[in-house]
Amino acid sequence: MTTQLEEDFSFKQRKNTRTMLIKGIEEALNNQILLESESSQTYLAMACWAETNGFDGTSGFMYAHSDEERGHMLKIVKYINERGSRAIIPELPQPKDDYKTLLEVFENLLEHEVAVTNSINELVFKTLEAKDYTTHNFLQWYVSEQTEEEALARSILDKLKMIGNDKGGMYLFDRDVESIQVTSAASLQAK
Ligand SMILES: [Fe+2]
Ligand SMILES: [Fe+2]
Repeated sequence: MTTQLEEDFSFKQRKNTRTMLIKGIEEALNNQILLESESSQTYLAMACWAETNGFDGTSGFMYAHSDEERGHMLKIVKYINERGSRAIIPELPQPKDDYKTLLEVFENLLEHEVAVTNSINELVFKTLEAKDYTTHNFLQWYVSEQTEEEALARSILDKLKMIGNDKGGMYLFDRDVESIQVTSAASLQAK
């Protein structure tokens, strides 16, 4: 015969089981933690390259961007933990840290953001398949964020292509890029 306490406990367990993340979604979210962490490390390495090659403004931009990506990673960590699972903090490969030009740096940044966008889209699709509407709703912030980050990277690349090899233009670009807000409207809404 079960006691009231046992019945309450078993009810709580059933309740917890119902609210925990579905395995496939948990794995995909953990994979996204890895990607956001890699973004943070990659932009930190870019900041170091810029700082040691005389591009102080670009390094400021990259340090700020690296912090942003850490914020993206932490948001997913918290979400997984709050949903009754436990986030996995991954081992990271060493990021690329040598570039020939500033143009190459920002081309790599855009490539990286496009890969992150594709991963987010895949994750959103999985939540719909699994009918996990809570995670689907959580991910909408990332969908907006990626649109803004890609647009920002493309507009910076357009400027760099316009400047070409003009040293004066490059000086002004580096001076101004630091003031470009990495923090998007989507980030501000979430705070
Ligand atoms: Fe991100
Ligand atoms: Fe990003």
